[in-house]
Amino acid sequence: MKNLSIDISKAFGFVSENDYKALQNKALECNAALYDKNLPGNDFLGWADVKNIISEDELSQIEAKAAELRKKIDVLVVIGIGGSYLGAKAVIEALSNSFVQMNPKKGNPIILFAGQNIGEDYISELMDAIADRSYALCVISKSGTTTEPAIAFRLLKAKIEEKYGKAEAANRIVAITDKSRGALRTLADSEGYKTFVIGDTVGGRFSVLTPVGLFPIAVAGFDIRQLLQGAYDIEAISQKGKSFDENIPAHYAVVRNLLYQKKFSTEILVNFHPKLHYFSEWWKQLYGESEGKDGKGIFPASVDFTSDLHSMGQYIQEGVRLMYETVISIAEPDRKVEIPSDAQNLDQLNFLAGKRVDFVNKQAELGTQLAHLDGGVPQIRIEIPKLNEYYLGQMIYFFEKACGISGYILGVNPFNQPGVEAYKKNMFALLDKPGYEEASKAIRARLAK
Ligand code: PA5
Repeated sequence: MKNLSIDISKAFGFVSENDYKALQNKALECNAALYDKNLPGNDFLGWADVKNIISEDELSQIEAKAAELRKKIDVLVVIGIGGSYLGAKAVIEALSNSFVQMNPKKGNPIILFAGQNIGEDYISELMDAIADRSYALCVISKSGTTTEPAIAFRLLKAKIEEKYGKAEAANRIVAITDKSRGALRTLADSEGYKTFVIGDTVGGRFSVLTPVGLFPIAVAGFDIRQLLQGAYDIEAISQKGKSFDENIPAHYAVVRNLLYQKKFSTEILVNFHPKLHYFSEWWKQLYGESEGKDGKGIFPASVDFTSDLHSMGQYIQEGVRLMYETVISIAEPDRKVEIPSDAQNLDQLNFLAGKRVDFVNKQAELGTQLAHLDGGVPQIRIEIPKLNEYYLGQMIYFFEKACGISGYILGVNPFNQPGVEAYKKNMFALLDKPGYEEASKAIRARLAK
């Protein structure tokens, strides 16, 4: 089967081919470190050996529980935040009919999300929306102690128990968490929920190919084995010992580091298909949390074109020159729609009659690439033949592997996220959480000044 392809030729001119060649060995060393586990973050590399990320037994259990729920529910509410949310959301959004929420039905439940924010209207409206539906909950937290999903789960647990009674509610709740630690593990064991484990060696943002992503994706009705197969096939060409030419994630890792060295400090992930919106959100977390530390790192941003050509397009074309773009292009969409001829032709579009909508989209893509190049914006282009489980699996592993290599080239530990704690400390102090008494006093004194 054809693989995802990457074209970096439009970055040359901004970075030199000599510099590109000079960094290749370093990239291969960094790739090897993901297998040899000899650089910082080495206890969070379980995702790299993707063939062993999940056992056959666990996969079968995920498929069985998903099939059981699919028979009886209209809606699955997935509760989680960050890495415990974005992977499933990205894949489900990419594979679903764009209007699936207009027709939730048994046998093909829709997936809603909670605990990814603390919006009071959001959770209240969600509880109203599912009240008369047949639903189940999937609560995901590696630590088992994250505030946002814990609040959402407390609220939704009370609702589901009120609706179905405690015993049936327990059948309709699945918890995905650590094998032995954390409040969610204690609760799940005491209430008898079906559980799946997030392994110790996989951090949240690298967890989409574990039960964290696979279970919600399976309930949505998508083929998780194909998703994994796509990942396996990119791992096979980027294993330790593979040549630089074969290792396409390394190409991306090298070129983005060279662009960063030339002061292109923002990378914009671009799509021309709205179904990829949340894929970009997943990618932003992956790169933002992995590389943004020690005063370093490319700022990951994203746009949905052509929509955002009518908002951000102006800045990208003519604003401060600090960004490059990585465009994800889908060679062939699922549907075919031709633009009809019109007798009156008042909109003067008859020159497009008989052409596919995707043909227009592709010309927009090419025209934008050339315009942005002329505007001084280096271009990387990634193409997949189709948007399906297999190629999403390829893209997921491609970006994960490239992220590990890229972070090591940059000289950071790509697998920690110490900066995420700062807001939590302040929030807990302001909420008078037990144990934060001194911090509460300090923050109040600071606010009173
Ligand atoms: O990537 C990460 O580690 C984070 O985004 C976490 O996934 C996020 O904070 C949620 O954590 P947890 O799964 O422990 O609730």
